[in-house]
Order: sequence, then C-alpha cells, then structure tokens
Amino acid sequence: MFKSFVFFVVIVAYSEEIYGKRLIVKRKTTTKSPVEAWTGKWFPGPPHPKDPWKGKWFPYEPYTSMKNLDMSHKQDLKAYEICDDGKQYIGVDYDPNNIQQTFEHLCLANRTLYAPNMNREALRMEYFIPPAYEAPIKCLNETISYDTQLPTFGAYRPIAPKYGSYIFLPAQRWLSSLSQGAIVMLYHPCAYSGQVKLLQNTLRACLYRHVITPWLGLSSERPLALVAWGNSLEMSVVDDHLVVDFIKQNAKQRPDLTTGQRNKTKMYEAGLIQEAHLVTDENDVEICGYKEGM
Ligand SMILES: *[C@@H]1O[C@H](CO)[C@@H](O)[C@H](O)[C@H]1NC(C)=O
Ligand SMILES: *[C@@H]1O[C@H](CO)[C@@H](O)[C@H](O)[C@H]1NC(C)=O
Ligand SMILES: *[C@@H]1O[C@H](CO)[C@@H](O)[C@H](O)[C@H]1NC(C)=O
Repeated sequence: MFKSFVFFVVIVAYSEEIYGKRLIVKRKTTTKSPVEAWTGKWFPGPPHPKDPWKGKWFPYEPYTSMKNLDMSHKQDLKAYEICDDGKQYIGVDYDPNNIQQTFEHLCLANRTLYAPNMNREALRMEYFIPPAYEAPIKCLNETISYDTQLPTFGAYRPIAPKYGSYIFLPAQRWLSSLSQGAIVMLYHPCAYSGQVKLLQNTLRACLYRHVITPWLGLSSERPLALVAWGNSLEMSVVDDHLVVDFIKQNAKQRPDLTTGQRNKTKMYEAGLIQEAHLVTDENDVEICGYKEGM
C-alpha cells in the first residue's frame, strides 16, 4: 500500500546520547528534501503518468472523507450499508468474540527472548508527513492494511476507540486515536509484565488521551513502544525520562485536533478493560504535570 513510499524516503540514522551515558537513542528521521517539490496532489507518491493510479487517493476518495460520512443522515441504512457504528461488522479488523483471534494477545513465543536488556538502546522513529496529507477514513466494507509492523499514520475507521486499556485493539482503531493526538502504548504479549506495568503507570499518570494494547508487531529486542502520529519510540527497558520526553513532545500535536473525543455516544469499546481516567481535564491541559522538574 505504501510501496512508493520507499522511493522517496531516506532514513537518516544517528545515535544520540541522552542523560549522560545512561541511554542511547537511535533516531531515524525521514528526510524532507525529496518531497519538497511535492505540490500537494498525492501521498505517498505521485501516480506514474502511464499507470492507472493504484495507490492512495489524496486528499481522499469522495466517500472516505469524514465530511461525507455524516452519520446523522444515515439512520435508515440497512445493515449491509452500515459504514461503521463501532459494533457491527468490526470483525473485518478484529473480532473480540472469535476465540481463534486470541493469538493477538497471547504469548506463544519463548518469553526469555523478550527479557529487558539494559544495554539495548531505544529506537526513535520520526516520519516526515506532508502537512497537507489527510488520512483516508474508511468504512468497514473496505479493508485497511499497513505495510509496516508499526504503523504511525495512515487510513483508519470513522468510529474512534474510547481512551483506555484493551485486551486487544486493532491498528485500524488506534490509528484513529493517533489522529486525535493521543499517545498509544503497545507491548508484545511476551514482554515482561513488570516493564509493561511501569510504562502503563507513567502513561496513565501523564495524560487522559491514551490507548494501551498488546501488539504482535513489536520485535523481541524492543517489545515495548509508544506511538504518536508519525512518531514512535521502541524500547527494551522502560526509561521514565525518555518516556516522559516522548509524551510531552508528541501528545496533542495534530493540526486538526478536536477537543476531547468526538462524540461519546458513538465510540468503539470492544475489548475495553479499563477506561482512561482524567489526569487534568478532557483536553489534557497539562501533560505529565506530576513529572515537572524531572
Ligand atoms: C462502502 O460503504 C460506503 C457507505 O455505505 C459507500 O459509500 C461506499 O461506496 C462503499 N465502498 C465500497 C468499496 O463498496
Ligand atoms: C528460551 O530461550 C532461552 C534463551 O535463548 C533458552 O535458554 C531456553 O532454553 C528457551 N526455552 C525454551 C522452552 O525453548
Ligand atoms: C452524538 O451522537 C448522537 C447519536 O447520533 C446524537 O444524538 C448526539 O446529539 C451527538 N452528540 C453530539 C455532541 O454531537
């Protein structure tokens, strides 16, 4: 889906020492230069003049835009015409009642391989996204797939998930949270529970606008991650400084940010274990406030 992406993205990797010798962050940034000539028509890549366009539409296909998905006019739709109500047909992405899908949140590998390693540096990824890019919002009659194990931007479903912790939340939903400026915490089901709890406690204390879910797309080297729109931080060991820095830098950094969650009567909550608690207010006026002076 993002095939053409690789043609113009150059990964610039360099190591950076933070807080003395304690931690090394490997930072990868997608460069801006090759797309500077981009005039605002296509993303991730322009269609070849001779080929029919098979990539993503930009800014959106007519029916995938939020503007054209005004739910209030769709009350009388028949079941098969339902775009997305957060309840029916959600199995397209993940069916919480299907026992065969429990592998999404069970540790089926050798847990020792996921053990925390103090010597393994964290990995920070920053993707350049053209400011004019508008992610497609797709109904359940269209599949959404990502060509990376750790997507940080792209298409998502119209109904956003409630903030909180999930047995499992599919990417098609948490990408929607990212688009609202939320921080998503992912952990491999085989990650050490002590580390998972550490990260979870920091995130929950920092802001209301968060989602937590297991995610098989993480490596055994770094089974813990925080994700924001266009940004990720993968870790073997939780370091509070890095985590708080990432959250403060990346939370609520979305231009189309609406206040709080869109409409609480229509939200996805399948597999929700614990709804997020307010830390300051619905808009998270202060992020990681308790960590001031750290
Ligand atoms: C999916 O459903 C939407 C809303 O009902 C509709 O407008 C759109 O044409 C459908 N797309 C496909 C590919 O069937
Ligand atoms: C798991 O991996 C460790 C380290 O590679 C190894 O020592 C251990 O025998 C493995 N355990 C199982 C059950 O395979
Ligand atoms: C949220 O959606 C419900 C059901 O469509 C509607 O009745 C309500 O007015 C909406 N609330 C807001 C604040 O838009």
